[in-house]
Amino acid sequence: MDLSRSAAWSALVSHKEEVDNLQMRELFAKESNRFERFSIWCKGMMLDYSKNRITPRSMELLLDLARSAGVEEKRKAMFEGEAINVTENRAVLHTALRRPPGYELHLDGVDVSSEIADVLAQMRECCERVISGSWKGYTGKRMTDVVNIGIGGSDLGPFMVTEALRPFAHGHLQVHFVSNIDGSHISETLKKLNPETTLFIIASKTFTTIETLTNAMSAREWFLNHADDRSHIAKHFIAVSTNREQVVAFGIDEANMFRFWDWVGGRYSLWSSIGLSIALFLGFDRFQELLNGAYAMDQHFLDAPFENNIPVVLALLGIWYNNFFDLSSHAVIPYDQYLHRFPAYLQQLDMESNGKRVECQGKLVEYATGPVVWGEPGTNSQHAFFQLLHQGTNVIPADFIVPLKTQNPVGEHHDLLLANCFAQTEALMKGKNEQEVVQELQAAGCDAATVEMLLPHKVFPGNRPTNTILLDELTPFTLGSLIAMYEHKVFVQGVIWRVNSFDQWGVELGKQLAKAIYSEIQGSETVSGHDSSTNSLINVYRAFRSKSFSE
Ligand code: F6P
Repeated sequence: MDLSRSAAWSALVSHKEEVDNLQMRELFAKESNRFERFSIWCKGMMLDYSKNRITPRSMELLLDLARSAGVEEKRKAMFEGEAINVTENRAVLHTALRRPPGYELHLDGVDVSSEIADVLAQMRECCERVISGSWKGYTGKRMTDVVNIGIGGSDLGPFMVTEALRPFAHGHLQVHFVSNIDGSHISETLKKLNPETTLFIIASKTFTTIETLTNAMSAREWFLNHADDRSHIAKHFIAVSTNREQVVAFGIDEANMFRFWDWVGGRYSLWSSIGLSIALFLGFDRFQELLNGAYAMDQHFLDAPFENNIPVVLALLGIWYNNFFDLSSHAVIPYDQYLHRFPAYLQQLDMESNGKRVECQGKLVEYATGPVVWGEPGTNSQHAFFQLLHQGTNVIPADFIVPLKTQNPVGEHHDLLLANCFAQTEALMKGKNEQEVVQELQAAGCDAATVEMLLPHKVFPGNRPTNTILLDELTPFTLGSLIAMYEHKVFVQGVIWRVNSFDQWGVELGKQLAKAIYSEIQGSETVSGHDSSTNSLINVYRAFRSKSFSE
């Protein structure tokens, strides 16, 4: 039966009518225990979801939806290595990467736990050699810089984590991330580097991604222009991939290859050897703490009853707004400058996973799936798009993420940061009604005409939902938990929407067309095989290109 015709769904449609006119500020005024009722504590973090358009009944009905959608069964299937990625016939086992070793899990005859332990040991050894300086470059110098060349999941996670955990870095190595095929990215990065002391990590699950291979080839050329001997590549290039053949064909020594497995999706791969840049920057022990934090969240997700299960509750609230209030955008606002790449990371995790329009079995869905996810750190975002959050015609549910303890206790900064964070969620919830605005304007001495003119502009509708995720402190452990929390949220939503959250066929068409257009750009014929817009764009560029070559 179609999800939108199921009993659990229909009950929520009717319930939405009942809560439609409820104002959160009134609910708070009536329910003195609203925060206690709608908050969940978990190791190192707390979710306050009381500023949502929900009653206890809303949560009961949403939890019914999760139960009837088979979330428990699918969760079990994922953790046990069933091939739940049906279109690629693959297991989804990123959770195994952070599980303490020694468990029983065999996949196609392979002992998953011991394979993971072997790669982690290889990563630890590499970190020790590079960080201690016993790994020497082609002129005998120690490495000072690591450049991770990758894109999507082979970039966003490691880049976000290294930025987030900068205060925990040991300081002997700088890390750089090159992802964009725009030559400016690699050029600007290489300008700062010395080939004698630079270690490149070519991070690509498939080792066929055009951006990564193009950047890797440019890096190799730059390196060889200085080192002048291909045998030196072994001291300066590492590969992280599932594709041994292509790694070797690129010229990277097999001993410098860190493997992972097809059951680790790209956007779920920072826990695997794709996290090598993280481990090098922080030291392996810190990387292990990140894994431990994720494991703690896995345990919470597995063990906590649904009503106290942070990923489940977040997933259900997302579905509540997306499917029953037709709010298809979701903002994520970290109040921590170190988390400035977190929204970008989350965009891939959420939108590549659940931006789907067919169910696992191929049938078109009859309801909305993954929302648009976006955000920027507070307080900067307050001075950019918060106007729209407060008074725009689009209502945008938002997650506010904030650590209680700062890494940089300077002056009053942290108190001011937290005051702003809490004030914004209060303002979004409470708003400011006409009566309050009139009183305020009159108290400021405005005459009646001014009050009348300004009134509509100064009203805040309020009743705009937010979640607040408090971290004790942003550490490797809590960051690991935070990331895993969102992974499981996305998983639960995917199960309820019946989509395959683990494939990404939607990125293929653009890749295919780009390949064809690339040949046309380089060919000698005027291009005419596309629509008139695409033909003209290509031909304008071809004309510009041949003119600039002949100049
Ligand atoms: O954008 C599509 C995608 O396949 C992502 O899912 C993946 O994270 C990224 O490309 C990079 O892929 P790879 O690690 O194979 O280079």
